Amino acid sequence: MIVITGASGGFGIEFARQLERRGHPLLLTGRNQQRLERSREALQSPQHHRLLQADLATSDGLEALLSAIGDAPLAGLVNNAGYGLWGGYAERQSDDHAALIATDLTAPMVLTHRLLPRLIETGGFVINVSSLAGESPLPWMASYSAAKAGLTFWSEALRIEQRGVVRVVTLAPGPSPTGFRAVSGMPDMLGGSLRTEPAKVVHHALTTLDAGGGFCVPGWHHRLLFLVQKLSPRAISMRLMHRYLAPR
Ligand SMILES: NC(=O)c1ccc[n+]([C@@H]2O[C@H](COP(=O)([O-])OP(=O)(O)OC[C@H]3O[C@@H](n4cnc5c(N)ncnc54)[C@H](OP(=O)(O)O)[C@@H]3O)[C@@H](O)[C@H]2O)c1
Repeated sequence: MIVITGASGGFGIEFARQLERRGHPLLLTGRNQQRLERSREALQSPQHHRLLQADLATSDGLEALLSAIGDAPLAGLVNNAGYGLWGGYAERQSDDHAALIATDLTAPMVLTHRLLPRLIETGGFVINVSSLAGESPLPWMASYSAAKAGLTFWSEALRIEQRGVVRVVTLAPGPSPTGFRAVSGMPDMLGGSLRTEPAKVVHHALTTLDAGGGFCVPGWHHRLLFLVQKLSPRAISMRLMHRYLAPR
């Protein structure tokens, strides 16, 4: 079995499509049952795959997912569920920031920790869907960039610890046309010209997996962004992002 979190949304649906072709039954999870059902119906053999509605920001949701996985042999875990919050840090409730950290950072760490013994048994894999937002501090998306920086650092450290045992992919995409913008509240025009299709993003992640795991920035648009992030002094890139992302 392969478990995919956030399977009711953009990258998650695409992971389901591309991983189904590898012949494993899938467990698709998300909060929205109707959208999960649509994801499953879009697969070639929907009857082979299971759905679970669970809120991964809560410990009840995490436990529900772990018990749905049960004792079935586990080939892989895709920690994809996540979202951003756009706007001033002070404008949101502290619970909103805490829920984002719980979903985007704590849930992948807890799920992986609990499932790692099973993945070691099968020589399985973990794909952590992080973001280029984790490569430099983002004013107006402060808690999101903090969560993704934490996810990338943790995932990369785990990848080296597990080398030769469990393959780990840290996927760090830039903008892609999914539900992400609508959920985060970000205006559509920001980052539009550098968008990369979800199918391509997921294809790059699975190519990295097949190469034994690694840090994956998918496609040349996102690699260009990554290069700019790495080459710009932090003070300059933060000033640019402050202006670029600022609510108008
Ligand atoms: N699209 C981009 O530009 C972009 C760029 C870099 C990284 N990413 C990352 O890619 C991942 C997938 O996002 P996406 O772009 O595909 O956006 P999306 O279409 O909004 O999908 C997000 C998925 O996460 C699930 N989710 C959100 N909160 C959840 C919670 N508390 N519990 C369980 N599931 C939850 C959503 O399911 P429900 O709504 O059903 O709960 C949905 O299936 C995220 O980690 C995101 O940070 C996206």
